[in-house]
Amino acid sequence: MNETVRKTRRLHIITHGCQMNVYDSARMADVLAPLGYAPAASPEGADMVIMNTCHIRERAAEKVFSALGRLRDLKEASGGVMMIAVTGCVAQAEGDLLLKRAPYVDLVVGPQAYHRLPELIAQVHRAGGSVIDTDFPTETKFDHLPEQAAPQGVIANLTIQEGCDKFCSFCVVPYTRGAEASRPAASILAEARRMVAQGTREIALLGQNVNAYHGEGPNGVGWSLTRLLAELAEIDGLTRLRYTTSHPSDMTEALILAHRDNPALMPFLHLPVQSGSDKILNAMNRKHTADDFRRIVARLREVRPDMAFTSDFIIGHPGETDADFAATMALVRETGFALAYSFRYSPRPGTPAASLAQVPAALADARLQELQAELRRQQDAFNEATVGLTLPVLFTGAGRHAGQIAGRSPYAQPVVVRAPAPLTGAVHRVKITHSNPNSVIGVLSQDTGEATATGQQNQEALYA
Ligand code: SAH
Ligand code: SF4
Ligand code: F3S
Repeated sequence: MNETVRKTRRLHIITHGCQMNVYDSARMADVLAPLGYAPAASPEGADMVIMNTCHIRERAAEKVFSALGRLRDLKEASGGVMMIAVTGCVAQAEGDLLLKRAPYVDLVVGPQAYHRLPELIAQVHRAGGSVIDTDFPTETKFDHLPEQAAPQGVIANLTIQEGCDKFCSFCVVPYTRGAEASRPAASILAEARRMVAQGTREIALLGQNVNAYHGEGPNGVGWSLTRLLAELAEIDGLTRLRYTTSHPSDMTEALILAHRDNPALMPFLHLPVQSGSDKILNAMNRKHTADDFRRIVARLREVRPDMAFTSDFIIGHPGETDADFAATMALVRETGFALAYSFRYSPRPGTPAASLAQVPAALADARLQELQAELRRQQDAFNEATVGLTLPVLFTGAGRHAGQIAGRSPYAQPVVVRAPAPLTGAVHRVKITHSNPNSVIGVLSQDTGEATATGQQNQEALYA
């Protein structure tokens, strides 16, 4: 009996940025739980506030400093007791500057060092002042994160690969997350099994280049993402798998065929293309052409006719002319996306494109608006095209109103259904009756047919 009873402390985590930060925030909570830190819904009265930050665009990074100002006031109100930690990609990229601008921050910890939080906190308590740890340690955090973890809900994220060696001209990720590294398959499978035992039914495998996954298999031989997905699909109770974000250059034929052959894999792919102009793709150092992207989309639709796609676009990258933008619009019109994210190019310190002649902001904005109007139209058309279809829906929990239950379609659409039974965690067939801009509404289908991931008959309806 050597368990110590610890004082409960309140931990509030603010998460900016991508799904990988969402995963990291959950893991930081797991790291701190043994020290007595329990999640708190607001920063008021918290003993520790972690701001997990994003550096991808200027606006994201600036958000950190405005939010820190508010935290400083709360810290003062606590008589200096509240500890403030800044983690994530801004911590990695601008840690020193951050401590200069906000000396009241106690801890600055990079994305590969947060398993060391307990010792860093102890260091602050011991020595006072601020502590910064933006190492890329030789030991990986995944070997040091606790096995105990809080339940993540019906849908959860699982990071399997991190960092990036591709060095696109515009992107900070290779600098903030470091070199590409894949986790060994055994540790991923163990984490997935634990999640499923805690009620998770859908897992999104995460990586900055997730389809470049090449982790060590149990017998020392490297596993591809396709192999890992096949093994994960064998876990009892794990009904759905997704993976994000993929790079077109790493989209192998085997992975494409997995969308036909792996019953857990959803007919849905986030495949950022960034631009439809080969000249700009080359300037971006993307290492693929617009036609490569077209071929991947066509092949996936061939093997899995009800496949739907999402993507990312950067508008106004240095060198982008009207003709380059027209090529992007043409690619968008001919592909037909279920949803897509588009951003005005934001010059990032230390990246190659930042030092080139910039496209005037007003011109880039006008192009962005034109693209976003088309993407909005496509998203509405996609959601409307699902009306009348019967889709298998994974229920995730109570809806916002009494008597409603919420879930996700195979296309990650939020679905709301009036349902009496507590169906959370189950997949049930739902007839879609109505579409909203960001969700759809349906009724439980009386048809008791097996709730497979999808129905190939949907193809005609979705892309008519
Ligand atoms: N690993 C992913 C992308 C990670 S960043 C990939 O290879 O596609 C997510 C998205 O942010 C990118 O797809 C890109 O569209 C956008 N982005 C990245 N850097 C940007 C910048 N400097 N300005 C504007 N958008 C950017
Ligand atoms: Fe950034 Fe390119 Fe790597 Fe994606 S592939 S994380 S856009 S450098
Ligand atoms: Fe942002 Fe870092 Fe993710 S820069 S997008 S939080 S990898």
